[in-house]
Amino acid sequence: VLERTFSILKPDATARNLTGAINAVIEQAGLRIVAQKRIRMTREQAETFYAVHKERPFFGELVEFMTSGPVVVQVLEGENAIARYRDVMGATNPAQAADGTIRKLFAKSIGENSVHGSDAPETAVIEIAQFFSGNEIVG
Ligand code: CMP
Repeated sequence: VLERTFSILKPDATARNLTGAINAVIEQAGLRIVAQKRIRMTREQAETFYAVHKERPFFGELVEFMTSGPVVVQVLEGENAIARYRDVMGATNPAQAADGTIRKLFAKSIGENSVHGSDAPETAVIEIAQFFSGNEIVG
């Protein structure tokens, strides 16, 4: 099934000038970047985006990190894009990520793990709508 998923290239990735290298892995996996912009997330945006993690001990650290530098927000489109991108990203903890995955290649730690991808169709819709209007997505 043709799906869209929401992706973030996180501050540790933009800081190391890895935007193009990560996009190459995404495109080689058969995903199309149908929307993309570089932004600095506000604290409010980050807290809204990660609201589901509000009670976790790492929430404050997560918001600090996500607002610490530029991010690239994206919409990716492809067959089973949500699961496919999660495969391409690899495990949240880069120490457990499979060879060839973005996190194995580039991530620094469980927090500074280079990329985010939606975990389900319902969250993909919500996450995309937080950062993109319909006319910014060109399939
Ligand atoms: P992400 O997919 O963006 O969604 C939640 C994020 O929380 C996750 O990636 C991790 O980067 C971050 N995270 C998860 N566990 C920890 C942790 N123990 N310490 C810091 N950050 C974490």
